[in-house]
Amino acid sequence: MATIQRIAVLTSGGDAPGMNAALRAVVRSASVYGIEVMGVQDGYAGLAAGRWQQLDNRGVGHILERGGTMLGSARFPGFRERDVQQAVVKQLEEASIGGLIVIGGNGSQQGTLALHRLGFPAVGIASTIDNDLGETEITIGVDTALNTSMAYVDRLRDTATSHRRTFVVEVMGRDSGYIAVMTAIATGGGLVIVPERSTTPEEVAHDIDESFARGKSHYIAIVAEGAQLRAQDLTTYLSKNPSYETRLSVLGHVQRGGSPTVADRALASQLGVAAVGALVAGDCGKVIGRAKGEIRRIPLEVAVKPCQKVTPELLELADILVQ
Ligand code: ADP
Ligand code: F6P
Repeated sequence: MATIQRIAVLTSGGDAPGMNAALRAVVRSASVYGIEVMGVQDGYAGLAAGRWQQLDNRGVGHILERGGTMLGSARFPGFRERDVQQAVVKQLEEASIGGLIVIGGNGSQQGTLALHRLGFPAVGIASTIDNDLGETEITIGVDTALNTSMAYVDRLRDTATSHRRTFVVEVMGRDSGYIAVMTAIATGGGLVIVPERSTTPEEVAHDIDESFARGKSHYIAIVAEGAQLRAQDLTTYLSKNPSYETRLSVLGHVQRGGSPTVADRALASQLGVAAVGALVAGDCGKVIGRAKGEIRRIPLEVAVKPCQKVTPELLELADILVQ
C-alpha cells in the first residue's frame, strides 16, 4: 500500500454544528502523519469545479467553537451523475490526492459511496442534525440542534401557559422525526407528529380537549417538517376551535446554527481523527460514526440505508410522558 501524502476534505449537505471541529481534527491528525490536507470549498460543487485550498494547523485555529463550516457547504444534484463523479476522480488523481474525507449526512455519504465504488479511497464522517445514518447512534450536530429546539420550546411554554394557548411548533427533519420526538421528550410537549406514523388533526384536537379537561394550562404539539400532517394545516384546523387560541411557530434553520455543544465538539474531534486513521490504514468505503458507544468504521452501504431511529419504543415513551 502506497503511503498517502495528500488528502482532501469537504463538508456537504445541510451544515451541522461541529463540522468545523471535525475539520480541525482532520487537519491536525493528518499533520501527525505528515499528510497535507486540501480543503474543498462548497461540498461536491467545489469538488467538481476544483475549488480547493491547502489547510494547515494554524488555519483551522479558532474554528472549534464556531457553528457552520469554514469550507462552505452545498447541495449539488449534479454529483449523482456518473460522468461527473468520474471526472472528479480523474481530477483528484491528477492532483495527487490519495484520499477524500466527506463530512455530511445521508445524501453526502451516497456521494462518498459512489467515489468508493469508482475505486477512489474515500471515507465519510457522520454529520447531520437529522441523525439519519444507519447504525450510527448520534451524528455530529444533533446534540446542539436538540439543545436549541429544547430552549426554544421551553420559552414557548412560558407564553403558552400565560395565555392558556395551544402552540404548533415545527422542527426540522425532512425524512426523520428524530428531532421532533427527542424535543418532545426533553420538553414535555404534547403529541408529537412525525413522518414515521400518521396522526390526524382530529386526534390532536381530541388530545388537546382531554389535556385542558385534565387541568393543563397550555398545549404544545411538536411537528416534524416532513410529517404527513403539516404544521400549517394542523394550525389551520385547530384555529377553528373557539375554546382555545392556536399559534404556529416554525423553528427553521436556527436549529442548524450556533456554537456546538461540548458533546458535539468531542464527537466531531473523535470522528475527525478516526477518519484520518481509516484512510491511513487503507480501510476505505466506511463512515466513521458512533455506534454501540464506540467510534466505529461502518460500511457506507450500511450507513446510507434508510434507518429507523424513531422506534416504536421512543414514540411510546413520548406518548406516556404527554399525560
Ligand atoms: P445530507 O448529506 O445532509 O443528507 P443531501 O441529501 O442534500 O444532504 O445531499 C448532499 C449532497 O450529496 C447532494 O447535493 C449531492 O451533491 C450529494 N448526493 C446526494 N445523493 C447522492 C447520490 N445518490 N449519489 C451521489 N451524490 C449524492
Ligand atoms: O438535512 C438537514 C436539514 O436541516 C433537514 O432537516 C431539512 O429538511 C433540510 O436540511 C433543509 O434544507 P435547506 O437548508 O436546503 O433548506
